[in-house]
Amino acid sequence: MKSISSAPGKVILFGEHFIVYGGKAILCSIDKRITVESELTGTGRIEIKSSLGEISVPKDAKPSEVGSALRPIAHIAQRMLSERGSESGVRVSVTAEFPSGVGLGSSSACCVAAASSIMGLFGEHTKEQALRLAIDAERTIFEDTSGADCNVCTYGGIIEYHRHGMTERLAFEPKFTLIVANSKTSHSTSDVVSKVKKYKDLNPAIFSLLCSQEERLIDDAMSALRENDLGSVGARMSQNQKYLEQIGVSNERLNSMLETVRGISYGAKITGAGDGGCIIAMTDESNLNATMNALAEKNYECFATKIDTAGLQHKVTE
Ligand code: MEV
Repeated sequence: MKSISSAPGKVILFGEHFIVYGGKAILCSIDKRITVESELTGTGRIEIKSSLGEISVPKDAKPSEVGSALRPIAHIAQRMLSERGSESGVRVSVTAEFPSGVGLGSSSACCVAAASSIMGLFGEHTKEQALRLAIDAERTIFEDTSGADCNVCTYGGIIEYHRHGMTERLAFEPKFTLIVANSKTSHSTSDVVSKVKKYKDLNPAIFSLLCSQEERLIDDAMSALRENDLGSVGARMSQNQKYLEQIGVSNERLNSMLETVRGISYGAKITGAGDGGCIIAMTDESNLNATMNALAEKNYECFATKIDTAGLQHKVTE
């Protein structure tokens, strides 16, 4: 029997980094997925194959024996085998429709899909159970995760997320298309979050002011999104970018990509941890092609994305 789960990647419309310190964020899942297939084996080993590498370790291997890219999946397999008292091994394979390490939620989508796929080997499970295991697994490589990315990869759609509060899935139908452009520089989310923590510790008053400004921006952005006022949403994205530049997570290449779409799209910003990764630009049918063309003329790799509304999906095959 094979247990197969897939989860969408994500972009952050507003609030990355500030959410780690108790703020809010607005996230969307995108129509590109990570799929995880798993099966029980008689080898007593955990075998993982993905574009990030391949391992085969005894099922009681220590976390330090597994490279950080595949550690969350090994953690999920170990937890499930031990909770179920199973003598089996697990073979897992991961395929992705989008690149990793560029702010599109590959790590979270992979944790969510792996949690569901491996849980599925032992019976039925809810999205909530898969989400809890996924966040626990992500913490093996990124202790301070806010959990926002795993939430949107599990439930799909557009969510407003509060670090210590509830997750709200927004009821309205999005009428926009986001353009994602990749700077082709990868980053470690955990390293960028540590860099922001240093900025915060050195500049507590400025950081606290930025947190309040971000909070107000998100409230206004939510109203603008509900009214489908894309000009206003875009202007707020560009304002959010200024706050992100202030905390030091943009860079020259990202800034020049943002410059390329300024005045053509409704607004743009980096998405995710930053310091590399991707930018997103807000468009609709009136400026989608012009924005894509402007990026393509400068040889920036880009694609248009719609919002995924399905979130985590799971099936079992014989
Ligand atoms: C990363 O996609 C988003 C961050 O806010 C980290 C987190 O929320 O865990 C930078």
